[in-house]
Amino acid sequence: MILVTGGTGLVGSHLLYQLSLENDTIKAIHRKNSDLQAVKNVFRYFSAEYEFLFKKIEWIEADITNIVALKTAFQNVTEVYHSAALVSFNSKDHQAMCEINIEGTSNIVNFCIEYSVKKLCFVSSVATIEKSVTNKFMNEADEWNMEKVSHGYAMTKYAAEMEVWRASQEGVPVVIVNPGVILGAGFWYQGSGALFSKIHKGLPFYTEGVTGFVSVNDVVKSMLLLMKSNIVNERYILVSENSSFKEVFYQIAKNFGKKPPSIRVTKLMSAVGWRIEKLKSILTNKPPILTKHTAKSIHVKGYFSSEKIQKELSFNFETISETIKSICELYKKEFK
Ligand SMILES: NC(=O)c1ccc[n+]([C@@H]2O[C@H](COP(=O)([O-])OP(=O)(O)OC[C@H]3O[C@@H](n4cnc5c(N)ncnc54)[C@H](OP(=O)(O)O)[C@@H]3O)[C@@H](O)[C@H]2O)c1
Repeated sequence: MILVTGGTGLVGSHLLYQLSLENDTIKAIHRKNSDLQAVKNVFRYFSAEYEFLFKKIEWIEADITNIVALKTAFQNVTEVYHSAALVSFNSKDHQAMCEINIEGTSNIVNFCIEYSVKKLCFVSSVATIEKSVTNKFMNEADEWNMEKVSHGYAMTKYAAEMEVWRASQEGVPVVIVNPGVILGAGFWYQGSGALFSKIHKGLPFYTEGVTGFVSVNDVVKSMLLLMKSNIVNERYILVSENSSFKEVFYQIAKNFGKKPPSIRVTKLMSAVGWRIEKLKSILTNKPPILTKHTAKSIHVKGYFSSEKIQKELSFNFETISETIKSICELYKKEFK
């Protein structure tokens, strides 16, 4: 039996859909306030039989920080996809990220060991890949430097990877994927999904920072392939293209028939911006739109290589223009 964590998020919901095509039952955990309807909406994008497919999921209420609830979820489980995490660049969430991303993963690892699961797939991030000193393109071998850690999210995802390597030391076969920014349909107002709704509304700003982008389809496809393969105890960068935010924003705007963002955000503008946002956040008690970390990272130029998965699994990524086109089509259908 397969168990999925994070099934109510972007990656997890698309993963559950693909798993529901091949399996009669799948277990997925959710929290008390999780939005299961959002998962059903994702299923609806891809199949007329979405109700039937969605019913294949056995939902179990379990927070990954709750050992008692997790124990119930792990009954009869043989394969685990661990995608749940708190993704935040707000320093206020540091403690919560330590609890969810590190301790939560440690709990998952402990149950994988206790129940001798056949394989564990963990969704990490390129945030745990360190900038190479010799090459322009970072790869899986580039050593991470704790002293250079710039934000809590990267630190907690790196520590979570360490937990997953502990599982491998204890005899649980593992695979780790390290995706770049994941683009996918659904969840239009949070995470990377918010890019689409904001640009549709007329976001005027762009930056020339560069990072790796990948479609959620390719993230899910590679996870399924890695779990079915004989590959164990390896990690793989998942990046289809390294692109500037300017280019990605331009392509999204073009697909929506909107005016592309035209105001280049300078380092000075973002430095002023995050401070104003911080003040606003203190006064209103609402999370800031721009944090100190994001203000810096939107200007960074980071290039990643996915040669390892391309070679070892003969994996072909969708182009980012194909990805953006299909997501924009689904967005337009949903909000017509
Ligand atoms: N999105 C990206 O661009 C990106 C890029 C690289 C790596 N990643 C990684 O990919 C994974 C999935 O990301 P995503 O974009 O799908 O995230 P997401 O949409 O924010 O979803 C996060 C998921 O984690 C669950 N979760 C959070 N805290 C939990 C807890 N304490 N117990 C149980 N479940 C909990 C959430 O459940 P609720 O519904 O209850 O909140 C939700 O299902 C994460 O590990 C992330 O670090 C994401």
